[in-house]
Amino acid sequence: MDLQLAGRTAVVTGASKGIGLAIVRTLATEGVRVTTAARNVTPQLAELGDAVTQVPVDLTTPAGADLLAARAGQTDILVNNLGGVTDDSMCAQGFLAIPDESWRQTFELNLFSTVRVTRALLPGLLERRGVVITISSIGARAAFQPVDYGTAKAALTNLSKALAEEFGGRGLRALTVSPGPTRTRNWTEADGYAGKLARVNGVTLDEFLAEVPARMGITTGRLTEPEETAALVAFLASPRAGNLTGADYIADGGVLKAV
Ligand SMILES: NC(=O)c1ccc[n+]([C@@H]2O[C@H](COP(=O)([O-])OP(=O)(O)OC[C@H]3O[C@@H](n4cnc5c(N)ncnc54)[C@H](OP(=O)(O)O)[C@@H]3O)[C@@H](O)[C@H]2O)c1
Repeated sequence: MDLQLAGRTAVVTGASKGIGLAIVRTLATEGVRVTTAARNVTPQLAELGDAVTQVPVDLTTPAGADLLAARAGQTDILVNNLGGVTDDSMCAQGFLAIPDESWRQTFELNLFSTVRVTRALLPGLLERRGVVITISSIGARAAFQPVDYGTAKAALTNLSKALAEEFGGRGLRALTVSPGPTRTRNWTEADGYAGKLARVNGVTLDEFLAEVPARMGITTGRLTEPEETAALVAFLASPRAGNLTGADYIADGGVLKAV
């Protein structure tokens, strides 16, 4: 299927690794010109040539979003992918162990960065009847630990719905994609979430990963690949999905059991 994305422009945040990198690759393959944001530039994005412009920027700073918007120019597609669990809250043993500073960092990284980037790009997105896709998490819908991450993601899902409602009449679409465990460095590298949790639990990373599908109830028995989530994002960003807005698309291999 031709997604009819060729010639469009996109901004992808948190784009140098993991799901963000896969989204940029997929969009670039579809002929989209992509401006990417991460603190560091990466050779993996440089390999994609002129289709990709890397903007090194820390989006947890108030000035970061305006810098990104100025470099991006007119944008059809915004993918708010930046987010994650902070080091401090990753291994916290429950709500009482998460101090204010960790809550603040988690909300800066996941929610406030997204608020600022979306606000900075929204005038141009409205002019072009664009689409905002925000990467939330299954943590937005269920009581997984750590609680600061889940609540920040729940806020993002709500924000996306509110954007869809407020600006839908002017042609903007807003959607969330909510991944479950996805094979990124957070699961595969020793310094990622899984590596840290493995150490806390006194097992190797391989032993920990072997138990993840059963422990988390992944119906398919495996982690989701970043490219699978990227394909969903590309479809949702495309005119093929032109009447989809205000919805949340779960990409979790069946972790969430409620309808
Ligand atoms: N992986 C999963 O299992 C999973 C599950 C559910 C939801 N998600 C969500 O999916 C999204 C992507 O997750 P991921 O695992 O692919 O992430 P990741 O591999 O940890 O990559 C994070 C990206 O964000 C960039 N970044 C980090 N801090 C930044 C900052 N302050 N300013 C600008 N860029 C920054 C990183 O590059 P630099 O270090 O160069 O800045 C990197 O490109 C997140 O929103 C996450 O919450 C992931």
